[in-house]
Amino acid sequence: VTDDQRGPRPPVVGMVGAGQLARMTCQAAIGLGIGFRVLAGTPDDSAALVCADTMTGDYTALPDLLAFARGCDVLTFDHEHVPGEHLAALERAAADKAGAGQSGPAVRPGGAALRYTQDKLAMRERLRAFGVPCPRHAPVTDLAAVSACAADWGWPIVLKAVTGGYDGRGVWVCGTPEEAAGVLAHPVVVFAEENVAFDAELAALVARSPHGQGAAYPVVQTVQRGGVCHEVLAPAPGLAAGRAREAQQMALELAAELDVTGLLAVELFAGPAGLLVNELAMRPHNSGHWTIEGARTSQFEQHLRAVLDLPLGDPWMAAPQAAMANVFGAASPDIFGRYEHVMAADPGVKVHLYGKQVRPGRKIGHVTVLGSDMAGLRSRARRAAAYLATGEEGE
Ligand SMILES: Nc1ncnc2c1ncn2[C@@H]1O[C@H](COP(=O)(O)OP(=O)(O)O)[C@@H](O)[C@H]1O
Ligand SMILES: [Mg+2]
Repeated sequence: VTDDQRGPRPPVVGMVGAGQLARMTCQAAIGLGIGFRVLAGTPDDSAALVCADTMTGDYTALPDLLAFARGCDVLTFDHEHVPGEHLAALERAAADKAGAGQSGPAVRPGGAALRYTQDKLAMRERLRAFGVPCPRHAPVTDLAAVSACAADWGWPIVLKAVTGGYDGRGVWVCGTPEEAAGVLAHPVVVFAEENVAFDAELAALVARSPHGQGAAYPVVQTVQRGGVCHEVLAPAPGLAAGRAREAQQMALELAAELDVTGLLAVELFAGPAGLLVNELAMRPHNSGHWTIEGARTSQFEQHLRAVLDLPLGDPWMAAPQAAMANVFGAASPDIFGRYEHVMAADPGVKVHLYGKQVRPGRKIGHVTVLGSDMAGLRSRARRAAAYLATGEEGE
């Protein structure tokens, strides 16, 4: 078979990082029939186990990134940890190629946008300048500065790592000056934030393509424990329609303002005073896993469509409601031994496992249930997730 007979080559998306987000994006790429490759830290990474075109390398090493980018039409990310100077170098390399009449991989989202997912202090300041409501915050380097914040906002004070935090690692709620002093003793750059007394945490997930098309998913409620997302309820129960529209509008405007290409997840606190933005992610997000079955277009397909500058898919729900529960590793690793029970007990539960080694507390999968009775959906999802993790029905 010659190249002519094969027809035009499908576009190739390269995703830096090979965790579960890349793994689920790979599934969507298969459906679209496009090329998809991942840059994995090790061959055992969640996506490396399933993606035929895996390169093993170091995302903090520019030569590895440049080698990975060769042959890709678009470069995108399953995490926010690629150093900013490397993102800039990749963008320069693409611009040089374009100058020479060749096409280099477009970096989507670009480094200028990704910066606001990498540096929480820069994100706070940028959002404030754009007029987006956020928790009160201040840069701090010593206990006197933290105490000055507490004099204004009261204890507890939230200290947050400026860079590198995820799943609550890098967030410390300090009830006393002693606790704050303990955090400040670590060699981590932090800033201080008021402790927000929210009624619920929400997430507004939108997609934006390079030519500016936007699509907004229904606003969801996320339930965190210890800073880690455990459940997602779609749409957010009890959220007034006007509030939901406000969150979607804010996310779409932010995506345009920051020139995001691909997905933008806006994490929000909802309280009596309205909505406050907590943080941003520019990639598929845990709050959107329910969209695999629960929306007409999954967030993973949507991200690929957006970064390829294809028309976006319908983000609306495929059922009135969806509940998602994360599966966390527990002491006993034999998840597959528990499949039979979970599947027999509730054929409506959809199970997703990430191929990750089971370690206590590690996110290793999720389950989704669709229907129209949120309390029931939620308890079915929780029960299945708990049983998969532990072999017990309880929480
Ligand atoms: N200012 C705050 N007030 C109250 N709770 C907070 C605050 N900031 C973070 N949290 C809690 O900690 C969780 C993790 O914080 P976040 O800033 O989103 O960090 P991560 O990058 O780890 O997700 C949030 O989902 C929320 O439950
Ligand atoms: Mg968060």
